[in-house]
Amino acid sequence: MYKIYNLLAVFLLTASSLFSQPCNITPRPKHIEYGTGFYYLPQKTNYSTNLKGQSGDWLRKILRQDKIQFRETFGKAPIRFRCTQNDLEAESYSLRIDASGIRIEAPSEKGLFYAWQSFLQLLPPPENGQYRLQFCHIQDAPRFSYRGMHLDVSRNFFDKNFIKKQLDVMAQYKLNRFHWHLTDGSGWRIEIPTYPELTHQSAFRPYPNWAAWYQGGRSFCSPEHPQAQGGYYSQEDINEIVQYATDRCIEIIAEIEMPGHSEAALSVYPHLACPGETTEKPNYCSGKEETFVFLENVLSHCAKLFPSSYIHIGGDEVDKTPWSKCPYCIQRMKEQNIKDPDHLQEYFINRMEGVLKKLGKKAIVWDEAIVGKLATETLVMCWRNASMGVQAVSQGQKVIMTPSEFCYLNSYQNAPPLEPLAMGGYIPLRKAYSFDPCMDMISNADKKKVLGLQACLWTEYIDTDSHAEYMLYPRLVALAECGWTDPERKSWPDFYRRALSIAESLKLSGYHSFDLRQEVEERSSADATRGNIAYNKPVHYKNKYHSKYPAAGDSSLTDGLKGGWHYGDLRWQGFLDTDIDLHIDLGVNTSISSIDTEFMQQKTQYVWLPKEVRFLLSEDGKEFRLLQSYSTNISANEERVIFNSYRWEGQATGRYIKLQALNRGIPGGWLFIDEIVVR
Ligand code: ACM
Ligand code: ZN
Repeated sequence: MYKIYNLLAVFLLTASSLFSQPCNITPRPKHIEYGTGFYYLPQKTNYSTNLKGQSGDWLRKILRQDKIQFRETFGKAPIRFRCTQNDLEAESYSLRIDASGIRIEAPSEKGLFYAWQSFLQLLPPPENGQYRLQFCHIQDAPRFSYRGMHLDVSRNFFDKNFIKKQLDVMAQYKLNRFHWHLTDGSGWRIEIPTYPELTHQSAFRPYPNWAAWYQGGRSFCSPEHPQAQGGYYSQEDINEIVQYATDRCIEIIAEIEMPGHSEAALSVYPHLACPGETTEKPNYCSGKEETFVFLENVLSHCAKLFPSSYIHIGGDEVDKTPWSKCPYCIQRMKEQNIKDPDHLQEYFINRMEGVLKKLGKKAIVWDEAIVGKLATETLVMCWRNASMGVQAVSQGQKVIMTPSEFCYLNSYQNAPPLEPLAMGGYIPLRKAYSFDPCMDMISNADKKKVLGLQACLWTEYIDTDSHAEYMLYPRLVALAECGWTDPERKSWPDFYRRALSIAESLKLSGYHSFDLRQEVEERSSADATRGNIAYNKPVHYKNKYHSKYPAAGDSSLTDGLKGGWHYGDLRWQGFLDTDIDLHIDLGVNTSISSIDTEFMQQKTQYVWLPKEVRFLLSEDGKEFRLLQSYSTNISANEERVIFNSYRWEGQATGRYIKLQALNRGIPGGWLFIDEIVVR
């Protein structure tokens, strides 16, 4: 009987490949074939498995959380899990639904787990106490072994329950690494029993959130302070979260930041900084042995708490100037024959790699650490841009790709003026979905060194659970698909269709997902060529734009392309600490009736509207007459992202159109100008 069912199922599956059918599993599986029959699974049912002992207990625990009520049985059951245990690291699986029931097979427990996640996504709402399941066969495996999500809990603290809630979504979409950014300048969040002062004195702040702390003196307080805000994770919390993650096939990568981003620890132990250090961003002193003793003790504790073979040791954004003035650091450089502070960072990282090795662990570092030579087994997390990945693999390292341009989910996901304040950037869902961690790798050998990708959530401007979820979802799911699904299996229209219902179902499950239906079009899709007599006309600059934001260079402001929601999109032209003074040459005297341009303000990124904008006109390029000037009445303290238009209308004739825009004069302040349209 069983054999007949099987044969029938094979026939039906083959027949089904003649037509395709949308697949609602996310990330999209490698291979799925539908059959034409249905299996009816009762809501209360039995399962069988060859997993025994602890593994059997684990499966029971996992299944207990789901909507189906299970009893384990030893005979033939409607759902059968079989683990072949021939590759415990593999995450592949096979899931077959046919007339004989549901058969799940995988080389490891991870594979069984992912098969189960896929299965749950196939479940329709029950009818009369049973689920109607279409026959199908799925064979699936991930593209990358590292599929991560990072959370910064230093800038703002997120409690244990929040973390577990997000681990649930990660598991559902087959993400397998949680990078826990436990320490940074604005808070130390992990209890270290031998250094209780760390959490007693730098895990709480007398401010409601990071922004108030950052602007208001940056002090810490004890948990007993009446205004204390913040928190930390006790050893018990961490054990509980690690177990919770492990059950869901998620490995936790703890990060202890060093040598920079360490103001919180140094506020408690100032003797670990270079002496006399007064900069806003002090580092651990690389000359003092005490630094290494302290960090070794912290890492040994982490090594016991976290089963992962990796610990992230930071290495990003180190301002090394204190080191070049510190007698201890200078002495260290002399003794070790180190030529400059960059190589002192190499020394620092190499010593910590040694510490980790002794502890049976390996390091992950941010991409700045590739200025020096790294241990072969150290993984480089590339965040500044994709070319860092190219550089790191060419130096022989394996990499995890998290370029901020695609993966920093603290960036705006929609038109910034409509959104809660964010750090900056612009990553709509479609852009996140377009990410390919290997896109800049040249050779296949290099591609093999890319272990995967990670979504990051930095929380400077995110101080509530609901805001964090709003930034994560559904973009995290887009990146989950980029990490799992082969590029040729990805499809934006198909993903978008699924993302709409994913966002909806996340909402029903109590997550504050962004409502994709509220998304507005990218700003730059507007056409600036229509009737524009300045189109393709030369622009002459008195003060040059900055080399970091040239957009398309001299032709950019008249190339017919409007800038988008982000000034870094190669269409906005940036001027640093200077006024704008330029003119367009129309070639001949021309009658004009309007001039338009736009500027933007984004205070979090030191981008301000000009104090004043002037349009002038000339026939000979020497004598200019003022058409109009505008002073900006929007405050420089306005934190919202603002796009401000400047428009002259009238009747005039001339050949040269001059635009002057006065910088606010705040040191380090940018002006960003968009297309100039003349009609
Ligand atoms: C980073 O964003 N500084 C890693
Ligand atoms: Zn020093």
